[in-house]
Amino acid sequence: MVLASPHTMYATPDHDEAAREDFVLEMMVHVSRDLTPGKRKLYDVVVKPKFEKSFGRAPVNRHEIRHAMEQEDFNQVWGALRRTTQELMFDSIGESVERRTGDLMERAAGFAKPTNSRRQGTLDLDPTLEIPRYQTAVDIHCKPGGYHSELTRDDLFAGAEYDRSYNLFAMGASGPLNDDMGRSVARYASRTFADLKPRRILEIGCTVGHSTLPYCDLYPDAEIYAIDVAAPCLRYAHARAESLGYAVHWSQQNGEQTNFPDGHFDLIVSHILFHETSNKGLRNILGECHRLLAKGGAMVHFEAPQYEDMPDPYDHTLGDWSTHYNAEPFWGTLHDQNLRKLMEKAGFPKGELFQHKFAPSVFLEESPKHRAVSRTPAYPVFGARKT
Ligand SMILES: C[S@@+](CC[C@H](N)C(=O)[O-])C[C@H]1O[C@@H](n2cnc3c(N)ncnc32)[C@H](O)[C@@H]1O
Repeated sequence: MVLASPHTMYATPDHDEAAREDFVLEMMVHVSRDLTPGKRKLYDVVVKPKFEKSFGRAPVNRHEIRHAMEQEDFNQVWGALRRTTQELMFDSIGESVERRTGDLMERAAGFAKPTNSRRQGTLDLDPTLEIPRYQTAVDIHCKPGGYHSELTRDDLFAGAEYDRSYNLFAMGASGPLNDDMGRSVARYASRTFADLKPRRILEIGCTVGHSTLPYCDLYPDAEIYAIDVAAPCLRYAHARAESLGYAVHWSQQNGEQTNFPDGHFDLIVSHILFHETSNKGLRNILGECHRLLAKGGAMVHFEAPQYEDMPDPYDHTLGDWSTHYNAEPFWGTLHDQNLRKLMEKAGFPKGELFQHKFAPSVFLEESPKHRAVSRTPAYPVFGARKT
């Protein structure tokens, strides 16, 4: 699959690079669609009965299941392939994006010039911001250098690379602008809180703005703000949005403690942010959401379901694989948290909390043929309203 460039900031691959990417994509689809169901069969037919024979009971949690599964050849090969495709994805895309970074930086500088008459949004970077340790301690999900590392002055490599690799990772099922999460969660928010007419909306952990821009479309009267700790992603996000004609206020800030005034926002959203923060970070961000929301405002966060909402412990092991083998150390413990308790502690009233609600995928409604490879036919969301 060779993709057409969806916007002028896209680091479009050449023929050979696209062919390499196609190979990685096919391998990813093969592991996910063809091999992963075999793990379930292995568990049901071999691992669980063996465990029951040894212990006189079924495994009770993901840890017991993981240790038992780890003994099996098929599971080891599956894990090796899954990890290898992840690394191959970054290896192949990284090299190709690196070759285009100089050109992209020039284009981004053009979008940032005050003389650019099409310029609509703003970009505010803070070189003194301390990047949280949960971002610097590992190369998160094997992305070399993570989101924040800067290879040169005014660098945007991490952002340009993310735009390409997310498309591959989503196996094409997030649409050409990788914006299905944002479109689907924004639609959910607009339907669930139909009475809410936000003046200002904030996205926390926006990366390159894939999910941010749909809020501009759905809430044309609102001012849209997006923050992230990673400067290279924000530079790319700003240029990408400008190239697509969207006005967003991007700033480099830690969602745990921002510089916005109390009650500044009517809607706060995030998309796959929390599994990449620490448990302390999660608590702080929920507290900050409460401070930043105006009375009557709402927060909506998309994350994979909590373990308490998934009755079969086998299902917990699938995502938890990333905790142990994909450099996402907080995946497992995030999904153990009692989110309702944490939201209440952050100040949200008990009667206004929601969890395990679903935002159906807008892209899959438009393009059902992608259903076969989609990782997320509906996005689980949690959140609350401030009264
Ligand atoms: C998986 S990405 C989010 C993807 C993005 N929301 C989207 O929809 O495409 C996680 C992002 O959260 C950012 N991040 C992590 N901790 C943060 C924090 N405390 N404050 C702001 N951003 C944070 C990371 O730099 C990274 O860009």
